[in-house]
Amino acid sequence: MARKVSEGPPWEKLSGLDRSGMLGVLARFPDQCREGIAIGEQVPVDPLAGFSRAVALGMGGSGIAGDLLAHLLSVEVIPVRTYTLPRWVGEETLLLALSYSGDTEETLSAFADGLGRTRRALAVTSGGALGKLCAQRGIPWVRIPDGYQPRAALGYLLFPLLALFRGLGTFRDDLTETLAVLDEQARALGPASPGNPAQELALLLHGRVPLVYGAGPTAPVAFRWKTQINEHAKQPAFWAELPEACHNEIVGWELAGKVFPNGVVVFLRSRHDHPRVQARIEILKELLDRRGLPYLEVQGEGEGALAQMFSLLYLGDWASVYLALLNGADPTPVRPIQELKDRLGRWQ
Ligand code: PA5
Repeated sequence: MARKVSEGPPWEKLSGLDRSGMLGVLARFPDQCREGIAIGEQVPVDPLAGFSRAVALGMGGSGIAGDLLAHLLSVEVIPVRTYTLPRWVGEETLLLALSYSGDTEETLSAFADGLGRTRRALAVTSGGALGKLCAQRGIPWVRIPDGYQPRAALGYLLFPLLALFRGLGTFRDDLTETLAVLDEQARALGPASPGNPAQELALLLHGRVPLVYGAGPTAPVAFRWKTQINEHAKQPAFWAELPEACHNEIVGWELAGKVFPNGVVVFLRSRHDHPRVQARIEILKELLDRRGLPYLEVQGEGEGALAQMFSLLYLGDWASVYLALLNGADPTPVRPIQELKDRLGRWQ
């Protein structure tokens, strides 16, 4: 995408908008993942063994851990984002409740539904009603530190589960490279590294509405980019999954120049993308050129599929925070979510 970004904004001054310290939390993400692994290694796994598939109940910043998990385990994981469970959930299903606050009504409701159908259940939460329920009923739960925004606690929400599922034999990947790549990114993408790729990306996205595309394991990463841009930068963003988008979404590009002049497509690219997905992206770029819709390509880092996946995720987290600063927003507060929850709490 041809757009001049040579004259950078005063990032140091803009960082003053980050009143609640999201940049600092982001910089510690690799450490959070390591802490998460250590927490997960303490959880006894025997009571959970013997399941053939799992449902991951969770919304928003917690629910994304379930989407990622579905691409990482050697058993089927179905993310559930509503009040009730699919009919097939039964004794062979592991019930996984993911709620950072422990007070999310959809997750609590689906968990209660599932507890009547299977004895294999586990929660990941900092406490709240979910923590209380688990403590009262002797349900195993992973207690994670409180005081974070749910979306800023992904290392605590997901990585204990990776350790735990490793103990159960359903997660077999080595995380060494992924953590090393994240460490490197933490150094390269922080505000003290001016002109870094995350800041460059934020400048390219500024004033535009991103359509983020991922494929396979990078599909939930594309969703994470969308939600992080929404919540950090307080602006619209959309995502879709390849190759599915080739069968519908691309027709919508025809009038994009007219009805969506500020759109920009972002392709998340992993060196492990299926060769036919790679071919599709090359053709899609030509189509976009013809439609006059700008696009960016972002490449994952590292050798392995996991490093590629998490490096794209982490880059998106940084870029969305820098975009917030360019938008004049404090990345942390999410007032509309809070207001909706407050009003629902009073709803008769
Ligand atoms: O980012 C947010 O604050 C939301 O997306 C929350 O994660 C969502 O509302 C669910 O809350 P919790 O993560 O506490 O279950």
